[in-house]
Amino acid sequence: MEVKNLNFTHYLRKTLEMMDDPGLLLLSGNANESNVMTIGWGTIGIIWGKPIFCVLVRPSRYTDSFIKKYNEFTVNVPLPGMEKIALYCGTVSGRNYNKFKEKNITLLPGKKVKCPTIKECDIVYECRVIHKNSIVPADLIPEISPKYYPKGDYHTVYFGEILAVYKQS
Ligand SMILES: Cc1cc2nc3c(=O)[nH]c(=O)nc-3n(C[C@H](O)[C@H](O)[C@H](O)COP(=O)(O)O)c2cc1C
Repeated sequence: MEVKNLNFTHYLRKTLEMMDDPGLLLLSGNANESNVMTIGWGTIGIIWGKPIFCVLVRPSRYTDSFIKKYNEFTVNVPLPGMEKIALYCGTVSGRNYNKFKEKNITLLPGKKVKCPTIKECDIVYECRVIHKNSIVPADLIPEISPKYYPKGDYHTVYFGEILAVYKQS
């Protein structure tokens, strides 16, 4: 079975711990153009018999335009000591800064996707988008919107089929 062979749960605990703090590095694009941002929200599970990484990206993020264009992303788990990089990538936009250059991030080609991965990171998930969905305000319990969406900008949930999971080192 595809799901078992991939062993996508192997790094689950580590990945979720790092997603909580300092965040994971979500990258989308191809060898010629790409962008990176930090994510603190997401889930890993099984849907449609496939291993899936769901990431939640607000439409205002520059990265969102890359995922929409290329339909692929990689999730890169930072190593201890990369906290400042995670904070930087989650604070400034690729519209205004070349985050890769500013933080000396080295890109490596993906094994199963055209989207690059981050050499300095520990664990890598390579994903292709097989479904996307926007958060529906009317279907949220009332207290969520004022707290998390005072300006609208409801997340798009991207369902990424996990095609590869591995350690860079
Ligand atoms: C720890 C942390 C977690 C974050 N999690 C998310 C997230 O899950 N989804 C999201 O849309 N933005 C999240 N952000 C905000 C984006 O990373 C931030 O707006 C970033 O600058 C967007 O970059 P871009 O415009 O180059 O895509 C997070 C920021 C930080 C610092």
